[in-house]
Amino acid sequence: ESGMFTYDPGFTSTASCESKITYIDGDEGTLLYRGYPIDQLANHGDFLETCYLLLYGELPTKAEKDDFVHRVTYHTMIHEQMSRFFAGFRRDAHPMAIMVGTVGALSAFYHDSTDITDPHQRMIASLRMIAKMPTIAAMAYKYHIGQPFVYPRNDLDYSTNFLRMCFSVPCEEYNVNPVLSRAMDRIFILHADHEQNASTSTVRLAGSSGANPFACIAAGIACLWGPAHGGANEAALNMLSEIGSVDRIPEYVARAKDKNDPFRLMGFGHRVYKNYDPRAKIMQTTCHEVLGELGIKDDPLLDIAMELEKIALNDEYFVEKKLYPNIDFYSGITLRALGFPTNMFTVLFALARTVGWIAQWKEMVEDPSQRIGRPRQLYTGAPQRDYTPIDQRR
Ligand code: SDX
Repeated sequence: ESGMFTYDPGFTSTASCESKITYIDGDEGTLLYRGYPIDQLANHGDFLETCYLLLYGELPTKAEKDDFVHRVTYHTMIHEQMSRFFAGFRRDAHPMAIMVGTVGALSAFYHDSTDITDPHQRMIASLRMIAKMPTIAAMAYKYHIGQPFVYPRNDLDYSTNFLRMCFSVPCEEYNVNPVLSRAMDRIFILHADHEQNASTSTVRLAGSSGANPFACIAAGIACLWGPAHGGANEAALNMLSEIGSVDRIPEYVARAKDKNDPFRLMGFGHRVYKNYDPRAKIMQTTCHEVLGELGIKDDPLLDIAMELEKIALNDEYFVEKKLYPNIDFYSGITLRALGFPTNMFTVLFALARTVGWIAQWKEMVEDPSQRIGRPRQLYTGAPQRDYTPIDQRR
């Protein structure tokens, strides 16, 4: 009770919602996209097939997939005037800052897909977001490192196209290693959706006001950036680098357990998973696959990560609080091996999560019972009182 309002214990948050897209059983460590287990999709499917599944609810037939891939492919270029948009950023701008600004600005260029009441415009906006995120992400990276932009190519698959836009230069031929491209594609699948996490809830809340999809995705990118959320992959790799050697792990485990120390094990723990994040297992396997393909025999950070996991999973603090590695624990090591700097890790998370944000936004705007989101609060401030003239204040 706050003296004015009596707290109604029956009060439930209006932020919760119903969805048919993704199911998580946190106790079991289960993750399903439209009913399909994440490991089956990651090991047997590809990212654009997963995009189709998340958007439309069913795995595509061959004809449906070919049509979807064709439509995405032909939306990968961005308005040429946008390439000058990047020049407004300082070279040392964090690529996530560039992503937030550039994605939000898409609504200034694509006026024919901002009316959310028009199903055709919603479909075009969805395709544009999925198609253009790799191009924008690669441009943010190229701008950051001072290299020329590389245009997408229509003869390459989604992930190969992305890796080429990031790592090729005009001066020489560049062929993407298919094993690495397959690994990138699988990493995108793992990050595609995760029910009502903070950034997806942000997109839904922004979309519930009728804001255009580009603005809603920009809001999701801003929320994902935080180190407690999508920024954890960058923070986890920085943490492993700071630990530096296996013999310093106990010192950091002790700090993570100390309530007076704000340090947390990055890439560990989860609001929903009270078991091993199923994505983390697949990410660890992918990490070994990528390092093996690149001939990296012993990555010191991987050794630290595996030893840290072993120690933590046998420590009563982590066992009692059910803290396990999450998707961000091994992703940084893998992304660094693929050639990305740490400040691009969350950009890659945002690139992959765009389909989840769009699918959840689409589900919400197409729900006729949908109303504007309006979470309430428990007021704990001052009771009502009268204004005091300034010369009477003490
Ligand atoms: C993502 O929501 C999603 O689905 C997100 C995501 C997605 O795909 O969208 O899965 C992506 O964001 C994964 C999480 C990435 N973040 C990190 O790895 C950052 C490190 N993790 C922690 O900050 C933390 O685990 C959170 C933020 C992820 C969850 O925080 P909660 O909700 O407080 O976790 P909890 O309630 O399970 O914590 C229980 C206890 C708490 O201590 P007590 O209050 O009980 O004393 O465990 C402690 C926490 O302080 N704890 C940790 C810890 N995580 C939780 N202690 C040390 N190290 C940690 N990493």
